[in-house]
Amino acid sequence: MGKRSLKPGNMLYPVPAALISCRDPEGRSNLVTVAWCGTVCSDPPMISISLRKDRFSHDMIRRSGEFVVNLTNEQILKQTDLCGVKSGREVDKWTLSGLHEEAAFAVKAPLVRESPVSIECRVRQILELGSHDMFIGEVVSVDADEKYFDEKDRLCLEKCGLVSYVHGEYRETGKLLGTFGYSVRKKTAVPRGREKAAESQNRKKPAARKDGKIPSEPQDGKKAAELKAGKKTEGSRTREKKEGAGNGRKETVLTEKRKRRDKKKENR
Ligand SMILES: Cc1cc2nc3c(=O)[nH]c(=O)nc-3n(C[C@H](O)[C@H](O)[C@H](O)COP(=O)(O)O)c2cc1C
Repeated sequence: MGKRSLKPGNMLYPVPAALISCRDPEGRSNLVTVAWCGTVCSDPPMISISLRKDRFSHDMIRRSGEFVVNLTNEQILKQTDLCGVKSGREVDKWTLSGLHEEAAFAVKAPLVRESPVSIECRVRQILELGSHDMFIGEVVSVDADEKYFDEKDRLCLEKCGLVSYVHGEYRETGKLLGTFGYSVRKKTAVPRGREKAAESQNRKKPAARKDGKIPSEPQDGKKAAELKAGKKTEGSRTREKKEGAGNGRKETVLTEKRKRRDKKKENR
């Protein structure tokens, strides 16, 4: 049997079911669920979100030039759906959903405390495409919940239980099938039932290019590699300097690292 041609439409799935938080210049904040959201550039890191002009959040983001993409998991899925069917014009979605605002590290728009990873963005371009306007935002900070870091300070995204949106349905991200570059790596096969073993093996051997560098997309960019390795990035350095950064908010890898270093010193 061959393929059947359907009428043109959006069929690129899975996509994230992301919870966008924003704040207008007058100080009002809002939440909006977005599925038309994607990574559009590695360096500088950029994300796009597409919003219809009539969304309450559209005007807030256009005027403030900022938004935060909060990744979602099952724990906040109902709230995510709710924020996608109610408008901030009529209700306060923070109160309605029970989600909590948290001060961001680099932008005035708030983070969603319950989200495992929040990505702070500054709008660089707005493209009027038709039904939707695309906001291209430069990532200015990535804030991950401490509980998703392992003992080696690696951010374990796979443990966040991230949710994707597939043609009207919410689905949790599934089992590991391989890692970047595994098709050309020597020990690559992921035999059925051995995903766990393969997972740890694949991690030990990140795909390297001939020049020894970590390959580009999707694990692209110095920052991504540094983040993965738990190293300092420019952004995290800035955050360290910022006063009150640990004020009940998601802390960076660095804070934990520093705590351990200090403890070691004390024990010496
Ligand atoms: C899963 C899901 C995905 C959505 N994706 C988008 C989207 O990508 N762009 C958009 O403009 N609206 C999207 N919506 C609809 C808005 O979230 C919805 O209209 C919301 O009530 C707008 O809120 P606001 O008026 O407070 O901004 C989505 C809704 C859901 C439930």
